[in-house]
Amino acid sequence: MVLVLGIESSCDETAAAIVDGERRIVAQRIASQDAEHAPFGGVVPEIAARAHAERLAPMVEAVLADADVALNDLDAIAATAGPGLIGGVMVGLVSAKALAMASDVPLVAVNHLEGHALSPRLADESLAFPYALLLVSGGHCQILRVDDVGQYRRLATTIDDALGEAFDKTAKILGLGFPGGPAVERKAKEGDAQAVPLPRPMVGSGEPHFSFAGLKSAVLRAHESGKYEVADIAASFQQAAIDCVIDRLRIALDEMRDCKTLVVAGGVAANASVRAALEELAAKHDMQFIAPPPKLCTDNAAMIAWAGIERLGMKDFSPDPLDISARPRWPL
Ligand code: KG4
Ligand code: ZN
Repeated sequence: MVLVLGIESSCDETAAAIVDGERRIVAQRIASQDAEHAPFGGVVPEIAARAHAERLAPMVEAVLADADVALNDLDAIAATAGPGLIGGVMVGLVSAKALAMASDVPLVAVNHLEGHALSPRLADESLAFPYALLLVSGGHCQILRVDDVGQYRRLATTIDDALGEAFDKTAKILGLGFPGGPAVERKAKEGDAQAVPLPRPMVGSGEPHFSFAGLKSAVLRAHESGKYEVADIAASFQQAAIDCVIDRLRIALDEMRDCKTLVVAGGVAANASVRAALEELAAKHDMQFIAPPPKLCTDNAAMIAWAGIERLGMKDFSPDPLDISARPRWPL
C-alpha cells in the first residue's frame, strides 16, 4: 500500500498528513496561525515563516507517531514547493528535503494549486478526468480544465483580487475580523442580499476572467455612507460575488462541454451559499457537482500528500532533485 507524507506551509496553515493509496487520511495535524495574524488583519509573511519553522518538525514527528509509521515506511515525502509566501514554502520544502535525504525516500515537490485541483479526487474516487474546476482561495481565482494529473488548462483568472481576498477585505472593511471568509458568511445569514446595490464586475464580458477590486471599493463606499446595516452589506456582497462567479463559469463551461463534472476547490469552496449556487449551475448544465468537505477545501497537508500519490502513479514519475527551489510564483 502506497504511503505518502504531505507537508503544507505556503500561507498561514502549518500542516502535515499521511495518506495512503486507498484515499485514507491515516493521520493529519494542522496548526492555524489565525491568532498571530489577527492583530494585523492579514497574514504577515515574516511571522508566518517563523511560526512554520517552530511548528513543523514536532508536527511531522507527531503525525508519524499517530500513524505508527517510520520514515523508512514511506513511499514519498511530498511538500508544497510553491506558489505561496516564500519564507513559509522554504521551511516546508527544506524540511521535506532533509527528511527525504535522511531516510532515502523520494521527494515530490508539489504545486499547491495542483494540491487543490486534485483534492476532490481524494474525497471522491468516482471523480474521473476531464473535469471543470473552479479554484477559489485567498491567493487564487481561476477556472481550469483538468485533463489528467499534470495536465491543466487555465481558462480564466482574476485581473486583480482573488475571491477569498475579496471576502477578507470585505470583512476588514466591515470590522468582522480575520479570517474574513467565514466571518462574512456568518454575518450574511442575518442580512438581506438585495438591500445594498453593488456592482457585478465583468458580468456580461465575453472572456471568463474575474475582477473583484471594484466590488470591494463599492462595499467600502456603502459602509462609509452609513445608510446600511453591516449584515445587509455582507449579504449583498456575498450575493454579488456569487453572481460574478456563476456568470463567469457559464461562459467557461461553454468551452468545456465534454466535461461531465463541475468541481470546486480552495478555501472559498467552504462557503455554503457558494456551493449551493454552483450545484444549481451544474444541474442546469447537466453536470455532476463535486465539492470536497470544507476541511479539504482550505489549506491542508492531506491534499499535498494526495497530489504526491497521484504523481507517484504517473508512468513517467521520477523523484524531484534535492536542489529544487521553492517558487513564490508557479502557474499550473
Ligand atoms: O485555500 P485557502 O485555505 O488558502 C489559500 O490558498 O489562499 O483559502 C483561504 C481563503 C481565505 O481568503 C478565506 O477567507 C477564504 O478562503 N474562505 C472563505 C470561507 N472559508 C475560507 N471564503 C468564504 N466563505 C467561507 N466560508
Ligand atoms: Zn490554498
